Amino acid sequence: TAPEPQDLLEIAVRVARDGAATARRMRAEGVSAVATKSTATDVVTAADRAVERQVIADLRAARPGDTVLGEEYGTSGDQPAGGTAVRWILDPIDGTVNYLYGLPNYAVSLAAEVDGVVVAGVVHNIATGDEWTATLGGGAHRDGRRLHGSTETDLAQALVGTGFGYDPARRLHQATVLLGLIAQVRDIRRAGAAAIDLCLAAEGLIDAYYEKGLNLWDQAAGGLVATEAGLVLGGLKGRPAGPDLVVAAPPALFGHLHDLLVELDAAGGP
Ligand code: IPD
Repeated sequence: TAPEPQDLLEIAVRVARDGAATARRMRAEGVSAVATKSTATDVVTAADRAVERQVIADLRAARPGDTVLGEEYGTSGDQPAGGTAVRWILDPIDGTVNYLYGLPNYAVSLAAEVDGVVVAGVVHNIATGDEWTATLGGGAHRDGRRLHGSTETDLAQALVGTGFGYDPARRLHQATVLLGLIAQVRDIRRAGAAAIDLCLAAEGLIDAYYEKGLNLWDQAAGGLVATEAGLVLGGLKGRPAGPDLVVAAPPALFGHLHDLLVELDAAGGP
């Protein structure tokens, strides 16, 4: 029988806190980039790797047989034959550049999927201890308080979050999208960690969020927090949220933002 979302969430919260403690301790000891990944600005630190290894080991101990998809090491664990229906999706440190600089927006992001559906997720801000959680059908919470997204209906009054990938060509395209957007909305925000941006939208601290080029580990946990807070999460033209585009907005705002993003070809480009 499939595990209950609440049970998976409890494991996720415990394991994410543990991972966050390791990241904090390593940061106190001094942090530096140890390697670059896709581009010269896409860095990885020793803590990204250490936290991922630790979270995988903790999950293994709690639920042997589950699969884990992590940002740094890819897929590990049993595949369906002989394994369970559960796949964990992990970004050990979302907001690695903030972690590098000490800007307090970086988080362990951990979601649990059962048969391909995300049913539980936690985003734990390593710097502040803020913790956003959600279970499918059980609502979204921050530190025990139930979350509801913004009720803004007017795009011209909307505070919109976004982010940028690391690929220079993609960044240029994103800049052209912003050129078309900036005069049509209240303002733009960029936390520097997609998982946190999605949680800020879930809390109504920004009205909406969009970004192109996200990986599953950037959006799985935060995406569930956002939808459980009542936001619509999707891509353009009826497509699901994915690498082409993730848009999160309250129901009455989603269509307006969607149409403008279509007009600006936000899902296009490299
Ligand atoms: C990045 C952050 C950033 C977003 C990028 C992500 P990382 O994740 O979430 O806010 O704009 O698209 O790749 O590299 O810090 O785990």
